[in-house]
Amino acid sequence: MAKASILTVLMTAASILWLTPGAAAFDKWENLSKEEAKIIVQLLDDVYKFWIVFDTRDHVENMGRIPSATIAKEVFVEMDKKGWHSARLITTSKNFFNPENRPKDDFEMKAVEALNGGSAFYEAVEVVGGKKVFRAATPVPLVMKECKMCHVTAKDDQLLGALVYTLPLSQQ
Ligand code: HEC
Repeated sequence: MAKASILTVLMTAASILWLTPGAAAFDKWENLSKEEAKIIVQLLDDVYKFWIVFDTRDHVENMGRIPSATIAKEVFVEMDKKGWHSARLITTSKNFFNPENRPKDDFEMKAVEALNGGSAFYEAVEVVGGKKVFRAATPVPLVMKECKMCHVTAKDDQLLGALVYTLPLSQQ
């Protein structure tokens, strides 16, 4: 590969990594409307939450396995790599396991405020890296007693975190 094209590739990769919330670029969707992006987020949210709760219940019998949050994060990396969407599991409280899961940008901070205030869905259309994207955050409450096996300081019915999704929108 010529020097110039290596440089172009590196610069493109760097700008994507720097400017896109989450990790890499998504390229699977074309011309999504905001309404369509919202339905996709709701579908993903149902799938991920059903699976996370199901998997957490399983911990009662299989102590010592990988926490569902860690597996969820691996799934999000894979979905991002495959170009479907980017997603993050973030904390909405002062007690958290991994500092990596603290809200990072303005959208995530505002989402935490809204969800802590009782919102069930927080959304915005933003331009990130020159591209229009749909961003949405949904609550991750302490849904079952098993969560407290590890999140020992959490209170019943407390909001523990949020799932934050980013999908590309039609650029028109
Ligand atoms: C087996 C222990 C364990 C159980 C059970 C567990 N978690 Fe976690 N949770 C973790 C660990 C460890 C992390 C940090 C993972 C990472 O970022 O790699 C985490 C991270 C989180 C985060 C991100 C914020 C933070 O603390 O870093 C949220 C939100 C969360 N878990 C919610 C839940 C919910 C809701 C439940 C119950 C459905 C639950 N967890 C059950 C261990 C657990």
